[in-house]
Amino acid sequence: MSWQHQPLSKEALCADLEIAASSQSYLVRVLVLTGAGVSAESGIRTFRGKDGYWRNLDPTKLATPEAFARDPQLIWDWYRERRQRVRNARPNAAHEAIARVAQRNADFLLVTQNVDDLHARAGVAAEKMVQIHGDIFVTRCSHCDFSNGDSGGSPEPPGAYVVQAINEQLTAIASTSERDFNVPTCPKCQAFMRPGVVWFGEQLPYNKVERVGDFLDGGACDVVIVAGTTATFGYIIDWALRGSRAGGELIEVNPEETPLSQFATRLVREPAAIALPRIADELIACG
Ligand code: OAD
Repeated sequence: MSWQHQPLSKEALCADLEIAASSQSYLVRVLVLTGAGVSAESGIRTFRGKDGYWRNLDPTKLATPEAFARDPQLIWDWYRERRQRVRNARPNAAHEAIARVAQRNADFLLVTQNVDDLHARAGVAAEKMVQIHGDIFVTRCSHCDFSNGDSGGSPEPPGAYVVQAINEQLTAIASTSERDFNVPTCPKCQAFMRPGVVWFGEQLPYNKVERVGDFLDGGACDVVIVAGTTATFGYIIDWALRGSRAGGELIEVNPEETPLSQFATRLVREPAAIALPRIADELIACG
């Protein structure tokens, strides 16, 4: 395993991939795993770290099925605020770089933990992307299988809520009857609709896990890029290691050390919007 704490050079990457300079037709097999850090430069807050949601907010009160059962209005307020932030945001250079690699490589999969749509808006096709933690713009029934792709018929509130407002709600003793109750209900079974995301304590969607497994079973990757995630969840590390199992590069793009860092063959300690355009150029040049 080679440890390199400086930016990649095209020559080094091509050499590591054992791609002859004369080879014009070789396309590398690429797996990209992303997390909140990739959207940070679009103005979407991360979860951990000094500016992260979980610094001021308790995840057990906002991102669990129990929290939703306790106070669906609060959960909807938080998700509507986040939807609005995502709508106001634009893909950054990191999203665009990943999209360029996706468009040029047939053998490509992006697995993102991000529930925003910035990868898609940058141009990553749905068949090359798995949103493993769901999609913030999907609204699904908390009871039956009904699902739709909009905000459940409930308009977002004008103007964004701020964390302070959510915290005030968390500490408020006001009952739901005293608040503006605006929780969408299922047209099929009348149960409450919920955001189409994965919460703590819930299973990952089986069909999505299967898509990742199929890609990994389809062959070892030449390059695995893990960008902007604390890799808190074991499956992220597991997929990165499985992808790079046959000696492929495992590149971590993150200004901070993570549990994955010890396994990376290359560490790029830079913001994703700086590092990924350069790495994409190098990969495309090698291909
Ligand atoms: P985190 O908030 O845990 O981690 C963000 C990571 O991005 C950190 O490691 C930062 O160092 C890094 N980072 C910050 N700015 C960056 C930048 N400009 N470029 C590159 N990296 C940067 O987010 P995730 O790892 O995505 O799940 O979190 C995983 C899951 O935990 C989320 O999907 C969410 C959360 O709780 C649920 O809500 C279920």
